[in-house]
Amino acid sequence: MKAFSLDQQTLETLLERARQARAHAYAPYSKYCVGAALLCEGGEIFAACNVENASFGLTICAERNAVAMAVAHGNTRFLAVVIITDDEKPATPCGACRQVLGEFARDLTVVVANLTGQIIRYKLADLIPYPFSGGA
Ligand code: THU
Repeated sequence: MKAFSLDQQTLETLLERARQARAHAYAPYSKYCVGAALLCEGGEIFAACNVENASFGLTICAERNAVAMAVAHGNTRFLAVVIITDDEKPATPCGACRQVLGEFARDLTVVVANLTGQIIRYKLADLIPYPFSGGA
């Protein structure tokens, strides 16, 4: 399969969608707001934010919310995800989100960004080289 290359215009669209979703983050406990925008093979984008809960362990990360939305709309083939936080250095996705993203796209392009415009690109396989795969 041809390697996917994220063009500048699509990146900007994903950044904007992630920013918009982040603005809706429900994070009254940590105050740490996250937005994620997931690009699917057909061009559709699903954006989501983190949703916390008074029972802290029930919190759902932005990335996993975006995956759930995409799957619920019939998409399981992902090309790129953009994650935005208000950190000095853009934050990479947590281990649980890496595992969940990897269920669908081992070679996913992962772009992390902050509000000042700093951007770092990774490949998911570099962020989680040995995912759990049921022993396969
Ligand atoms: N969070 C995410 O949304 N994505 C991650 O990859 C890591 C953490 C959220 C969960 C919680 O609401 C807040 O950030 C602080 O951990």
